[in-house]
Amino acid sequence: MFDTHAHLNAVQFQEDVEEVIERALAEGVEHIVVVGFDTETIHGAIKLAENYDFIYAAVGWHPVDAIDMRDEDLNWIEELASHPKVVALGEMGLDYHWDKSPKEVQKEVFRRQIRLAKKVNLPIIIHNREATKDVVDILREEGAKEVGGIMHCFSGSLEVAKECMDMNFYISFGGPVTFKNAKKPKEVAKEVPIDRLLIETDCPYLSPHPFRGKRNEPSYVKYVAEALAELKEMPVEQLIEKTSENAKRLFGITR
Ligand code: NI
Repeated sequence: MFDTHAHLNAVQFQEDVEEVIERALAEGVEHIVVVGFDTETIHGAIKLAENYDFIYAAVGWHPVDAIDMRDEDLNWIEELASHPKVVALGEMGLDYHWDKSPKEVQKEVFRRQIRLAKKVNLPIIIHNREATKDVVDILREEGAKEVGGIMHCFSGSLEVAKECMDMNFYISFGGPVTFKNAKKPKEVAKEVPIDRLLIETDCPYLSPHPFRGKRNEPSYVKYVAEALAELKEMPVEQLIEKTSENAKRLFGITR
């Protein structure tokens, strides 16, 4: 299995990250992308990627903290883009749920990261919360199609999923798709073509059923795979094989 979005760099894993990684391996997780989104978590993602063969890093600046991003931070992200284990930029995007960073600042920081991704030719990982229209508009205006990427923990409509797929984006589902009452993500997941689907945990957040509310971890990505396999009416082994192929193609991972 390929967990395309994990925050093993979060404080919640400070005490036992090695055991968490062991459990992931024991459950058949073969690749993990650890996502950094500010100075500290970027350092953490790079360190994990350097210490573990099968862990890769994504580096970017979170929209909630957009107001804190300095020019030096973006320059640093650009330098890291040539690191052999950095496979994407992100997470980046817009988050209108929290108001720490004004919308205009978020948009500018998002646009600058998309331009950087095009410059260094890496796919992007998109965080969207309550900002779908602006996210899609900016992706289109900035020509994000050139690099493509991932709509992370997708919770939008099928129509939006199609618009994003037209711009070379993959649609990634996490824990919420396993919830009994999650009608919309289930309906959308059913319709996303298998060659555009990805699985993720977004750990330590968004634990799948039956761990809802507890700390999430990469070994639980199998519950996401099982839920999607059921929706796609295919054996779980096949779902795992396809989503892993998709992730490797997108991130340019050959092993
Ligand atoms: Ni995340």
